[in-house]
Amino acid sequence: MHEPVRHIEWMGDARSGHLRLLDQTRLPGEVAWLACRDVETVRQAIMRLSVRGAPAIGIAAAYGCVLGAQQPDGRRAFAASAERLAASRPTAVNLFRAIDRMKRCAAGVPDDAALPARLLDEAKAIHEEDRAACRAIGEHALLLLRELTGDRLHLLTHCNAGALATGGIGTATAPMYIAAELELPLTVYADETRPLLQGSRLTAWELRQAGIDVSIIADSAAATVMAQKRIAAVITGADRIAANGDVANKIGTYSLAVLARHHGLPFVVAAPTTTIDLTCACGEKIPIEHRAAEEITAGFGRATAPPGAAAFAPAFDVTPAELITAIVTERGVIRPVNPAALAAQFDSC
Ligand code: MRU
Repeated sequence: MHEPVRHIEWMGDARSGHLRLLDQTRLPGEVAWLACRDVETVRQAIMRLSVRGAPAIGIAAAYGCVLGAQQPDGRRAFAASAERLAASRPTAVNLFRAIDRMKRCAAGVPDDAALPARLLDEAKAIHEEDRAACRAIGEHALLLLRELTGDRLHLLTHCNAGALATGGIGTATAPMYIAAELELPLTVYADETRPLLQGSRLTAWELRQAGIDVSIIADSAAATVMAQKRIAAVITGADRIAANGDVANKIGTYSLAVLARHHGLPFVVAAPTTTIDLTCACGEKIPIEHRAAEEITAGFGRATAPPGAAAFAPAFDVTPAELITAIVTERGVIRPVNPAALAAQFDSC
């Protein structure tokens, strides 16, 4: 079984330990690690996308809360840290779920001296639960994809909903890793994912580490890849799923869903239940992060637009539920995607 890189790891004990993150901004060229010894470093790492992907930023923030509680005035520093971390990125609901869970944990620990250790246990539990959720998602998703594609596992994915975005084997990539374990024939196309190239830099990197056949395509090649019948299904992750089944995910996901519908291809979303937000009635209510114009006009430090050119840079879009064939969580498959089906399976979220 392929073990993905442990890209988020707590080093040492609760009182004096620190968080170690693989700096994803340096991939694929360099495998470099960031030592986060204070909350601000974790917040910056999330904002800069050194750690990114909905479940992963929740896990990193949970460990970040432990760093807050290590301060002399632990309880107050923890509360301030939780607020700071919650202000890092707005779209992935996993971040807010993890921080709320850490706050509930702190509230249940009357003894200040015990706070760091209890919070570290909670952060590790969040991490471990996500690892287990990824595998369960993979098992459900693989069964579904085999059924939908008649075992022709030619899959297109967008951005990175992989091991690097989670505590386990990813969400959209989970059925790929399991198919590889089972030695099933598998072909993956990865959208490069403009403007920050999470598809080519990260998804292709981690799938290659596992020996999985992956071809990178320019985002704009997706229609052609579908028209040429090179793929049998699209599978992506999610940053937040509204109560009606609308899905916010990396910008460009919506276009893929429209294209998939046009070409009669299944469009599957894989996400843990921690990504479902039943308090958000529909996609319009999901806060969408906008990134700095320079990520488009001068990506990776090199000007690709004339000085002064403006850019419109939403980091995520919303795919309407009606374009989604199924949502797969660790609890099973939601199909068709509608408010009643979501509520029926996830009323406890
Ligand atoms: O901006 P990013 O890289 O954090 O965006 C990540 C995505 O859009 C992923 O598809 C999503 O978080 C799901 S991760 C399992």
